[in-house]
Amino acid sequence: MKHIAIVTGASSGIGREFVRTIPKHGTFDEVWVIARNQERLEELQWDVSIPLKVVAMDLSDPASFVRMQTLLEEQKSDVRLLINAAGFGRFQAVEKCSLEDNLGMIDLNCKALAAMTQIVLPYMQKGAKIVEIASVAAFQPIPYINIYGATKAFVLSYARALNRELKQRKIHVLALCPFWTRSRFFERAIQKDENIIKRFIAMYEPEFIVKSAWTALRFKRDLCIPGWKAKLQVLGVKLLPHSLIMTIWQKQQGLK
Ligand SMILES: NC(=O)c1ccc[n+]([C@@H]2O[C@H](COP(=O)([O-])OP(=O)(O)OC[C@H]3O[C@@H](n4cnc5c(N)ncnc54)[C@H](OP(=O)(O)O)[C@@H]3O)[C@@H](O)[C@H]2O)c1
Repeated sequence: MKHIAIVTGASSGIGREFVRTIPKHGTFDEVWVIARNQERLEELQWDVSIPLKVVAMDLSDPASFVRMQTLLEEQKSDVRLLINAAGFGRFQAVEKCSLEDNLGMIDLNCKALAAMTQIVLPYMQKGAKIVEIASVAAFQPIPYINIYGATKAFVLSYARALNRELKQRKIHVLALCPFWTRSRFFERAIQKDENIIKRFIAMYEPEFIVKSAWTALRFKRDLCIPGWKAKLQVLGVKLLPHSLIMTIWQKQQGLK
């Protein structure tokens, strides 16, 4: 049986960095890379010694779940690692953002992540690992990044509870919560005519985020918040009332 790793959101940013570093962290026969942009997925093979299986599909379309199920069944694979990195956000007031995009964030960030996890689980055995990418945004309500933050709160809660449920099967789930990270994320998040975020307290590199995640996996942690600025932000959010946190955020960014 082939040992495989599956990475969603593999064409860019954090997902792509996971794929590039997978060979250093385990023995896999194949890595399945998933995103919409086929060309970018194919280019990844230049950077990775393990054979890649390119699965170009839109995870916000439920037909992709059926395709995934079929692929897994056909190949009778042993999935040793699943990284759910596909996700997008919009920095915009809920009312200004299209309904399509608002629901699209829920479809991709929550529904597809939960679907991929559940579809893959029957093909996992003792020792398998799952990384669910949440965000520092998961810990607080965030006006103007509202639905995105709420989707990440779902991911954080889901991943940590799932880790407990899967302990019996000795499958480890990590909730990875990056702070701002340099990637294509911002191309989709920032609206040209509307500059919501004027200050980024930190900007981490995908390499640092992924290196921290591999360490957290090694130590079987269920939560990873890479970087001291990110940890400090989460600590502040835990200690102070959320109403005050939201006021500070709005003042910091000059938002009404
Ligand atoms: N960057 C940050 O500041 C930051 C902070 C905290 C958490 N995160 C989270 O980290 C994860 C990775 O984000 P990133 O920063 O690496 O952003 P990114 O560079 O934009 O990567 C997002 C990935 O998701 C894929 N994707 C988007 N829509 C998709 C769809 N409908 N179906 C399938 N794949 C889709 C994209 O590929 P295609 O466009 O080819 O489909 C891309 O591979 C996301 O869950 C994000 O929410 C990011």
